[in-house]
Formats: sequence, C-alpha cells, structure tokens
Amino acid sequence: MTASVEPGLRPPPTAEQVAAFVVATAVWAPSVHNTQPWQFAAERSELTLRADAARQLTVADSHGREMLMSCGAALFTAKLALRSLGYVPETRVLPDAADPLLVARLRWRRQAAPTLAEDRLFNQVMRRRTHRGGFEPVPPPPGLIEALRQNAARHDAALRVAITDQARAALASITEMAERVERLNSGYVRELAAWAPPPGSSRLDGVSASAYPARAEPTSPNFPARDFARGRGWGLRSSTRISAARFTGIVCLLTTPADGPASWVGAGQALQSVLLTSAAWGVAAALHSQPVEVGWLREELRHELGDGSYPQLVLRLGTVIEDAISVRRPVASVLTASRAIFDAPKSA
Ligand SMILES: Cc1cc2nc3c(=O)[nH]c(=O)nc-3n(C[C@H](O)[C@H](O)[C@H](O)COP(=O)(O)O)c2cc1C
Repeated sequence: MTASVEPGLRPPPTAEQVAAFVVATAVWAPSVHNTQPWQFAAERSELTLRADAARQLTVADSHGREMLMSCGAALFTAKLALRSLGYVPETRVLPDAADPLLVARLRWRRQAAPTLAEDRLFNQVMRRRTHRGGFEPVPPPPGLIEALRQNAARHDAALRVAITDQARAALASITEMAERVERLNSGYVRELAAWAPPPGSSRLDGVSASAYPARAEPTSPNFPARDFARGRGWGLRSSTRISAARFTGIVCLLTTPADGPASWVGAGQALQSVLLTSAAWGVAAALHSQPVEVGWLREELRHELGDGSYPQLVLRLGTVIEDAISVRRPVASVLTASRAIFDAPKSA
C-alpha cells in the first residue's frame, strides 16, 4: 500500500502511515545551510530521530551545535505533526553520551484533539520560510514578543530582545565581524559553496538561489547575510513591490542557561516554536548564526550578556512581502522503517 505522506491529508490509519506523515512534516523544519541533518527510523508507533553526522558542517559547526539545533527544530515539528493527527506525543529527548547522534524517541499511543493554537502552528510548517534581507516598515503585532518569550521558555531557552540602539548596534557589529572572519577562512568558504547550489540545480538540499536576494539589502544597523552567491550574481531579482526603505526588524538573541547537546536540541525546539508562532502572526525571521560560529566572538557575546547564559542564534523579526523558496529531500531518503512503507520502484 502506498503511504500518505502529504501533510494536510486526513489522519492515516496505520502506524507506518503516521510515521511517514510525521516525517514528511518534520523535514520542513529549518536547518543550518538547509543541510537537513536528520535521519528517522520507524518501528511500530515509535520514531527515533538521529542526527546525520555526514551532513554536519565540520568547519562552521565543528561541535555539531547547529546540527543538533536543526534536529531540535525537526523534533518540535514532528511533535506538532502528531498533534495535528490527534495523537499525544511521548518524547524522550536524549542525547545519550553513549550514542551521541541519538536525539529523541517519539511515541504515540494516546489521543486528544489538537488545540486551536497547535492547529495554527501546524498550518505554518509548510509556509514558514527563512528571510534574508531587510523588512517592511511595519511595527510588530502587539503581544507577539511576549508570546515568543513564553515559547522559548518552555524549552529552557530565552529569547532576549535588543531594545536599545546600543544593544542592536553591538549585535550587528559582532555579526559583521564574524561574517568577515568566516569569509577569510578558505575551509569555511569551500563548505559554504558545497551547500549553495547554482541556479537551476535539481538538488533537494542546500540553500538554493531562489532563497536569497541577488543584491544584499543593507539595513541600519546592518546584519550581513551569508554570501551564498559568492559574487556570481545568483539570487532573486528584487521585485518593484519592495519599498526603498528596508528595516532591520526586531533584533533578538536566543540563549540557553547551559551548553551541550541537550541544550542545543532544546534551543532548536525553542527556535521552531518561535518561528512558527511568528509566522502565524504574519511575521518572518532572518537568522544569523555567524556570531556563534566564531568561538572568540561567541565568548565576547556571552561576556556581554553578563549572566553566564550561552548565545545560540541571532534572529531578526519583521514583515516581508515576498517569500523565499526552499527545497527538501523526500521522506524516503530520511526515513527507514521496520516494514516497507513505500512503493517499490517501478521497473522500466
Ligand atoms: C541553527 C540554524 C542556523 C541558521 N543560520 C543561518 C544563517 O546564519 N544565515 C541564514 O541565512 N540562514 C540561517 N539558517 C536558516 C537556514 O538556512 C534555513 O532554515 C534553510 O536554508 C531552509 O530554508 P527555510 O528555513 O526557508 O525552510 C539557520 C537555520 C538553523 C536551524
């Protein structure tokens, strides 16, 4: 039997189909450079999520911090998919020192109707896109920031908003410095190139040229984007609808009280919760992990925070009128199952 793997369909009846649906939804989580560094295994009513170390950015992310954050975002999305089907996820979040790539086990046995809030978030999974550039001059909806703070706190993370011009400028200059340091590192540049396929590529991972503007959109203060195009003129041409004035948006820093695999998975869950909630309020996010990839700059940032917490990601939130396009690998390449749940390839 062919599994229903399209999010949004009616609840599939078998455990195998639930697993396929959940994974088909989870892959739409954000991941650093769209590496999609996850692998799922299904066994009856249980999914195991493992990080795929072959997809780790060994230069920019030598500790696997962003890899596990990406897996945390996928875990949050998988749980939301289960809720959309009316299942109550039972999660054992690892990692386990003896099996460092193991991220979580997810079971579903009980049922309860999803809440309206869960439905709203689920509806954003396929719509949410990472933004790369400036924002429209529109103030954030009242109440959004408080809601996002609460979301982050549920995963033992904190979303701190840079409220003063001084704090925004300091974060911008650390981001700018990190971007400059990384561009001088030939290993980093090669790694970035490996995850930035050229326009027209049929690859289903990496940051495609349809996901960033052809011309950088400086804001004040400026948070430089990654140089995916590397001077080749790739990227989306700006539409005439885009207003001349581009805004930096609300500048935030996601932090955790501790550092290590469990905190990174938690930060990833917090991130996806924040991104989907923002999307449900019509707000997009630009992400900057450059400042936390350069060790001494991350330390400097940590020192600035002054309370011992660990910076995990810089976010800018705002309103956009154009969405980027992103790609994902098919479920069959990220899910292994104890029983076949896909059609056998048709012979020619
Ligand atoms: C931990 C993490 C770090 C990221 N860092 C950046 C970044 O520095 N710059 C950027 O443009 N996007 C960053 N992203 C966003 C990814 O590039 C994006 O999620 C991926 O390309 C998939 O696209 P989508 O989010 O539009 O679905 C990051 C995402 C994650 C999860």
